[in-house]
Amino acid sequence: MEKLIVYGGNKLSGTVSVQGSKNSTLPIVAGAILCKGEVVLHNCPRLTDVDAAVNILKSLGCKIKRENNTLIIDSTDITTSVIDENLMREMRSSIVFLGALLARTGKAHLSTPGGCEIGLRPIDLHLKAMRELGVEINEENGNLHCVAKNGIKGAEITLAFPSVGATENVILAATAARGRTTLINAAREPEIKNLADFLNLCGAKIYFAGESTIIIDGVNNLHGCEFNIISDRIVASTYMAAAAITGGEVEITDFPVRDILPVCNFFNSGGCRINSDETSLRIKAPERLRLSGTVRTMPFPGFPTDFQAPAMAMATVSDLTTIFIETIFESRYKHVPQLKRMGADIRVEGTVAVVQGVKKLSGTTVYAEDLRGGIALVIAALAAEGKTEIINLKHIDRGYENIEDNLRRLGAEIKREDN
Ligand code: EPZ
Repeated sequence: MEKLIVYGGNKLSGTVSVQGSKNSTLPIVAGAILCKGEVVLHNCPRLTDVDAAVNILKSLGCKIKRENNTLIIDSTDITTSVIDENLMREMRSSIVFLGALLARTGKAHLSTPGGCEIGLRPIDLHLKAMRELGVEINEENGNLHCVAKNGIKGAEITLAFPSVGATENVILAATAARGRTTLINAAREPEIKNLADFLNLCGAKIYFAGESTIIIDGVNNLHGCEFNIISDRIVASTYMAAAAITGGEVEITDFPVRDILPVCNFFNSGGCRINSDETSLRIKAPERLRLSGTVRTMPFPGFPTDFQAPAMAMATVSDLTTIFIETIFESRYKHVPQLKRMGADIRVEGTVAVVQGVKKLSGTTVYAEDLRGGIALVIAALAAEGKTEIINLKHIDRGYENIEDNLRRLGAEIKREDN
């Protein structure tokens, strides 16, 4: 098993470019199923989750080539509407293929993806919405057998929670529906608008994506297109956290700065100075962070749950006390015991974590339990005294492309080794 070895204490400096967004790439790769013609996707990150999505497309009969960070997909010949259980299990968010497969073939047979490290990840909102679009769904022994006998019919759908995945599934299925779909209480994450921009470039008619109410007028056919995936706002925020925790000064480029506005207050309150234009940002950190107050994770444009763990790593070595309230996922504090092994002072009561800053963390061996919790350990290690070994990198490799190379280029003492 591979591990990262980090010697903490270096102030980071220099410039880093942000990779393509994992959470944009996945629904857009699924959306390529709807297109009869070649789809060229640029800025696709090289991640194991993207590999899993590509494997699902190949199993459906799509032809796919990867040229560095470009994916070339031809979905002209979809040969099946069944997704193999093992492929579904490789990636929890594979449920997003449901809407795309229904839109293309009118059927979808797949296993329920099940939970993951951060929570049960139910799909009730997805299934309720598909049924409202006229899809018959039989759930048995953990499998979903879905058929739109009379085709997908536009409907007015209200989501009980602005679920990102459910919003994406409705957009994908409704794109091929007969008539208009109005989606109320839709997720507003930037990845939603990126998916709609992609589908519209292929001939879809999706309006107001990124707002709480989205309108989709179904169309008969989608053609191919050439499209740029947006860059990853959580990865950009992670590089900001690496600069902040080491007292460094870093320039982060090639991403939509407006997408990280929800975390700017957090960095400013800790004493960081941020200058930016539309697609690049320079962050200068104080010698020592002075974070305090409450961080409550919320749907976009609130504080992103995916940044809760890296933010907590910063808070562990800040001068004051920070309270975290994780409102989105029920099991997203798995990084806490690992941070405590490094000397952090954190008390968890249910969804609340109270972080009392300590003078220094100490390097030790820690275990990545999930994607964002794993990267939080890397952030903590950059500031810890001595050597930290982070093991179980498969989680980190799901979402961060070349993370150790990029951090090393910014001055971190970090390398990957085989156990
Ligand atoms: C997406 O997951 C992201 N994944 C997650 O990023 C992100 O944390 C999450 O949105 C919230 O922003 C991808 O885009 C691939 P949700 P998703 O449906 O769509 C409950 C990462 O680290 N819910 O908005 O699964 C659910 O249990 C990952 O990159 C239901 O109850 O998130 C959760 O409490 C982690 N029923 C809340 O909604 C449903 O049918 C938010 O889930 C669906 C969701």
